[in-house]
Order: sequence, then structure tokens, then C-alpha cells
Amino acid sequence: MIRFVLRQFVTLVVCGALAGAAQAAGDPVAGKAKFATCAGCHAIPGYTNAYPTYHVPRLGGQHPDYIVAALKAYQAGERRHPTMHANAFSLNEQDMQDIAAYLASFQPAAAPYPVRGDVAAGKIKSAACAACHGPDGNANIPLYPRLAGQHEDYLRKVLQDYQSGARQNAIMKGLATPLSPQDIADLAAYFASQPKGLVVVGEN
Ligand code: HEC
Ligand code: HEC
Repeated sequence: MIRFVLRQFVTLVVCGALAGAAQAAGDPVAGKAKFATCAGCHAIPGYTNAYPTYHVPRLGGQHPDYIVAALKAYQAGERRHPTMHANAFSLNEQDMQDIAAYLASFQPAAAPYPVRGDVAAGKIKSAACAACHGPDGNANIPLYPRLAGQHEDYLRKVLQDYQSGARQNAIMKGLATPLSPQDIADLAAYFASQPKGLVVVGEN
């Protein structure tokens, strides 16, 4: 009995340490409350950015470290989007960590999402992305965003932004530059259609 309890305790401590390392020091309950101002866009299935028109990204199940990095980039104006700049502006480090912990707490999508583009063609082209994003867009690398189940039109928009320099990232700039419009459409369709994908906040 004592050995059993001890083993449980050790397991708890080890799991706690791992979870702490991977998930940052956020409080998901506090994060849920802090997300209230974000819900009007990010917790409504099908909600789109007004101009240009594309779906606001799915955030449920995204890596917490990536969420924090994205919010800091909007806050600093490195990632340019007036609405997200305004929304990130007043957040402090703890707010970001709490929100990220809340967003990471969502379970992956039960079924793959339907897409418009050519998934088979995208699968072949996705070999260039697998080392960082995983073959199915679900790699467990904290600073590399999950792509599985992200909105198809958002993925297209982002790849175009890396190409044009509207969104700046040295790694993704190099990878996006050689892509043709057809490549972008195929890759977006492939990753958007992958199972166990991201969800709209509140969806599950
Ligand atoms: C008025 C609508 C709106 C509100 C409110 C809003 N967002 Fe956003 N959010 C967007 C749009 C549109 C984008 C995509 C912008 C772009 O193209 O970079 C975005 C992008 C993001 C991203 C980047 C996701 C990725 O995959 O890179 C994060 C993280 C995010 N929002 C978090 C938040 C948080 C946290 C709040 C509240 C504090 C919030 N948003 C409020 C519309 C909104
Ligand atoms: C060497 C590692 C690496 C490879 C290979 C790579 N990526 Fe990325 N990707 C990243 C990193 C790091 C980011 C985050 C950059 C940022 O913060 O803007 C990113 C971000 C993205 C995003 C933004 C997601 C979002 O939520 O906004 C998309 C889309 C994307 N990558 C698609 C691709 C595609 C398609 C390929 C293959 C053609 C690819 N990546 C290959 C490292 C990589």
C-alpha cells in the first residue's frame, strides 16, 4: 500500500514537472475569464475577419508557447494586425500565460474538417513541412504552431503573408517564398483536413 502511494506520488510529481515545462505557468481557469473579450471573434464558429475576408484562426488546442509568442508579436507590432494589436495591447505576461493554458486545455476535433482544395496533392508537398510541423500538422514542438484542423483560408492567407513579408519570420519566409499559388492552396487543404485538429474555443 505504502509503495503504491509512493509510486502515485512520484508519478504525480514527475507529470507535474513535465506538464509545467510543456504548458507554461498559466492558470486555465483565470485564462477562461480573461478570454471573455476574445470570445466575440474566436469562440464563434465561422467568424471571419472583415477585410480581407478569411476565418479567424482556431485557437483551441494550440501550443501555449506559440500562443504567447503570437500575442507578444501582435503587442509589439511585429505581427501587424490592428484588431489583434488592440486586443493584445493591455495583456501582461501572466494574462498571456493564463489565456494560453486555457486554449491548450481543449481536446482535439473529433472528426476531420471538410476542405475545398486538393488534399492528395498537398500531402505530397507537405514533406517539406513535416520536420517541424509533423507529417499531419500536429507536431508537439512548443514554438511551432499546430496546423492540423486550422482554417483552410487562414492557412492560405498566412502563407501569402510570409511570402509578401506582411508577416515576418525568417524560417517561414524561406520556406514560403518558392511556393506557387497552387502549392499554397494544396498545402492549406492538406493541413486543414488532418484529423485531431484544432477547434474553435468552446466547441468541445
Ligand atoms: C475582432 C475580432 C478579434 C478579437 C476580439 C480577438 N481576435 Fe485574435 N485574431 C483575430 C484575427 C482576424 C486573427 C488573425 C490575424 C492575422 O492574420 O494575423 C487573430 C489571431 C489571433 C492569434 C494568432 C493565432 C495563430 O494561429 O497565429 C491569437 C493567439 C489570438 N488571435 C488571440 C486572441 C486573444 C487572446 C484575444 C483577446 C485578448 C483575441 N485574439 C481577440 C480576431 C480577433
Ligand atoms: C524549420 C522548421 C519549419 C518548417 C520546415 C516549416 N515551418 Fe511553418 N512554422 C515554423 C515556425 C517556427 C512558425 C512560427 C512562425 C511565426 O511565429 O510566425 C511556423 C508557422 C507556420 C504557419 C503559421 C500558422 C499560424 O497559426 O499562424 C503556417 C501556416 C506554416 N508554418 C506552414 C508551413 C508549411 C506549409 C510548411 C512547408 C512548406 C512549413 N510551415 C515548414 C517552422 C517551420
